[in-house]
Amino acid sequence: MGASDKREEVLQAWYMDDSDEDQRLPHYREPKEFVSLDQLAELGVLSWRLDADNYETDEELKKIREERGYSYMDFCEVCPEKLPNYEEKIKNFFEEHLHTDEEIRYCVAGSGYFDVRDHNDQWIRVWVKKGGMIVLPAGIYHRFTLDTDNYIKAMRLFVGDPIWTPYNRPHDHLPARKEYLENFLQKEGGGQAVDAAA
Ligand code: LAC
Ligand code: NI
Repeated sequence: MGASDKREEVLQAWYMDDSDEDQRLPHYREPKEFVSLDQLAELGVLSWRLDADNYETDEELKKIREERGYSYMDFCEVCPEKLPNYEEKIKNFFEEHLHTDEEIRYCVAGSGYFDVRDHNDQWIRVWVKKGGMIVLPAGIYHRFTLDTDNYIKAMRLFVGDPIWTPYNRPHDHLPARKEYLENFLQKEGGGQAVDAAA
């Protein structure tokens, strides 16, 4: 892990244990097994650190949106007061699912855990804090939970009109899943170029 990577102050990842304690706890393995942001990029998970206090005027965010075509933007605040059907949503967020498009989340306040499956179907927990932005590729199995601070405000970005539909596992026959497998999980020895973070 590059100690100089400033992303690591707001984005940390580790392999989860398999205890069924509270989903909002960190679930570190014993001993802890951290995962680098480069390893996440190999799974197609891209990440940035941005200036969350100035997202309205941030040129870096503007550039990412232009380059990646993220024309749509809104905010999602996850707490009982702000999110309609809070309990049901919290439960659904933590069901393992995929989407047919990228899931793009920029944490502008609070924090939360995005769990993603690795090449061996192990859970990697990605802790995203204020200033952290991640892109989960279309077709990756994942889930979300708040941490014990119980609050996140996330900017949601999308290419064109947003489609948030979750397809709970298993949905392996979807083209987005097949493409994800081809691009990121079956590239052993293929020498195939991977669209990793620039
Ligand atoms: C979503 C997150 C919770 O689909 O994965 O919005
Ligand atoms: Ni999702």
